[in-house]
Amino acid sequence: MQIRRRGFLAGMATLPMLQSAGVAQAGEGVALSAAETLLQIAPPDYPRTQVWAYNGAVPGTPLRYRQGGTLNVRLVNRLEQGTTVHWHGLRLPNAMDGVPGMTQPLVAPGAAFEYRFRLGDAGTYWYHPHANSLEQVSRGLAGVLVVDEADPPDVDGDATLVLDDWRMTQEAVIDPSFDNRHDMSHAGRLGNYITVNGLPELTGSLQRGTRHRLRLVNTATARVFRLRFDGLRAWVVALDGMPLVAPQESVEIVIAPAQRVDLLVDVTAEAGGEALIASVEREAAYAMAIYDVAGPGGAFRDGPRPLPPNDMPAIDLTAARRVPLVMEGGAMRGLPGGASWEGTRMDMRQLAELGQFWAFNGVAGMPTEPMIQAALGESIRVPISNRTAFHHAMHLHGTHFREVLAEGGLGPWRDTLLIDPGTTREVAFVAENPGDWMFHCHMPAHQMSGMMNWIRVT
Ligand code: C2O
Ligand code: CU
Repeated sequence: MQIRRRGFLAGMATLPMLQSAGVAQAGEGVALSAAETLLQIAPPDYPRTQVWAYNGAVPGTPLRYRQGGTLNVRLVNRLEQGTTVHWHGLRLPNAMDGVPGMTQPLVAPGAAFEYRFRLGDAGTYWYHPHANSLEQVSRGLAGVLVVDEADPPDVDGDATLVLDDWRMTQEAVIDPSFDNRHDMSHAGRLGNYITVNGLPELTGSLQRGTRHRLRLVNTATARVFRLRFDGLRAWVVALDGMPLVAPQESVEIVIAPAQRVDLLVDVTAEAGGEALIASVEREAAYAMAIYDVAGPGGAFRDGPRPLPPNDMPAIDLTAARRVPLVMEGGAMRGLPGGASWEGTRMDMRQLAELGQFWAFNGVAGMPTEPMIQAALGESIRVPISNRTAFHHAMHLHGTHFREVLAEGGLGPWRDTLLIDPGTTREVAFVAENPGDWMFHCHMPAHQMSGMMNWIRVT
């Protein structure tokens, strides 16, 4: 497949491969201000865009800590609406999870909230608002949180690539139709403009023979990226922050909304050539990152070793309680039997009038009772049946899960799983973290129109 340029490269600034993101010194607090800001997001021949940003940047201030360190962040809300910060993928105390009305009150305009907790797991995580998420995340509020291993792998560079997808007008204004019913009932808010670290394309240079860690984060609200590598030999070493038992060599990866993929890549392109990361779309592949490769290039290292594991619980599959989750609704399939909404049974037309198009186990929106009440330490299995015509990125807060594979084995630890239409995927986890935790589709247009539920661990 031919890799193409998107055709808006004139004047692009080059970015160094290695972005040093170190901000948090031991014990020192970080202020994170959410505010409206004018930034150049569209290509340089377009006007700047009014975005909502953390500390004036999209993606927001990169937060970086050592494993075992303490996150200490003061959110200051300078938006004209309430917000919170959710620390996506972190196994943290429930009160720090950032879900308004569930784990904390909404942080009002002008108010602040202190997030403070210990970072037990190393890995690549991210943060975003959990209030009016479709609008707040789509307008730019998202940032990366990296927790460094005590003993990190031997690499020549460590870079973060934040993949995003914007819906912009020709004037580079963010399309404000956040209540778009077509998005809600179809594939979510897909954009028309893709960025990497807030730029239409990343460029830089790399030395042949060197090895780099690339932390890919998908902050888009609906787009699933399929990425191909050219001139790079790539191994997946972690998914959603958690190391794989064995690095997996890959020529192509899929990364759904909210997911992270940590790669180690060796630069194999010839000196004078290019190394590329491209997004495979319908009819072509488009370059998202282009690196000029320089020589001379030394010897390649041996294949990578696994990253040091985080301390994960043992899932007891045989003793595990099974709680099925059936996902229904949306365009094409609908909710022929209706669903209940805030305790009242309704038909599809009534639900649609309330902006509800989807149901989990026959309930649209947050049920008053959790779908699972688990005892601390209990193992739970959830077969998730996607009876809709769309794929969904299911995310569980506060706990990672593993997929129960067809052969009976367990897949890698994840916090977000992409589930194709018409398929059933079973996940299993240990209820290791006390509190109330959301379990929802991470395409916020779906989340707000029905796809949410929660679990309670006591
Ligand atoms: Cu990253 Cu409830 O979400
Ligand atoms: Cu969904």
